Amino acid sequence: MKALIVFYSMYGHIYRMAEAMAEGVKEVKVAEAELRRVPETLPEEVLQKMGAIEPQKAFAHIPVCKVDELASADAIIFGTPTRFGNMCGQMRQFLDATGQLWAKGALVGKVGSVFTSSNTQHGGQESTILSFHNTLFHQGMVVVGLPYSFQGQSRIDEITGGSPYGASTIAGPKGERLPSQNELAAARFQGRHVATIAMKLAKP
Ligand SMILES: Cc1cc2nc3c(=O)[nH]c(=O)nc-3n(C[C@H](O)[C@H](O)[C@H](O)COP(=O)(O)O)c2cc1C
Repeated sequence: MKALIVFYSMYGHIYRMAEAMAEGVKEVKVAEAELRRVPETLPEEVLQKMGAIEPQKAFAHIPVCKVDELASADAIIFGTPTRFGNMCGQMRQFLDATGQLWAKGALVGKVGSVFTSSNTQHGGQESTILSFHNTLFHQGMVVVGLPYSFQGQSRIDEITGGSPYGASTIAGPKGERLPSQNELAAARFQGRHVATIAMKLAKP
């Protein structure tokens, strides 16, 4: 059972969550997890102005995803920062290049799952994940979220991301907040949950 974790990250929050997601997948016996970045679409000049050049060096070693790789995975977990309550343009562009896979039904029956981050607590994490699910349904994927059996999503003693739709992290108004222990635990839980379901679906 192979899970691909396909993400875009500008400042590293989604990358950190993607690592935790991979840890969760690997907790399931014989499950493999591989990380992939979607291609950058912004010019270097713009990335410079956005302060993204330095942070992106931390995950420059992660291979850029080729569309065809999606077809060889049993499960695909997508990570995207929130952009105005939606997925980022880099991810949208990548997904819009999967028409050939759609035409062949290449992703039908595979497990799909989504996680996100945003600067603010109510800045659109749920709408980002739910609107992302539309694409997964069109591809015929079996959409998996973050069940309430992950009890950390019910806590109110601290500010935290995470909803039944998927794990998330709150980056803070200036992106100064790193994913908390609870948010990373949610990502690990979701990774393990996705892998467990994909294993069951893979059984003859
Ligand atoms: C164009 C743009 C739109 C954004 N829209 C939102 C938003 O709707 N809500 C929010 O809370 N944060 C928003 N943000 C902040 C990003 O979600 C935040 O930088 C990101 O989650 C950090 O993750 P990363 O470090 O993996 O890039 C936006 C950022 C940019 C650049």
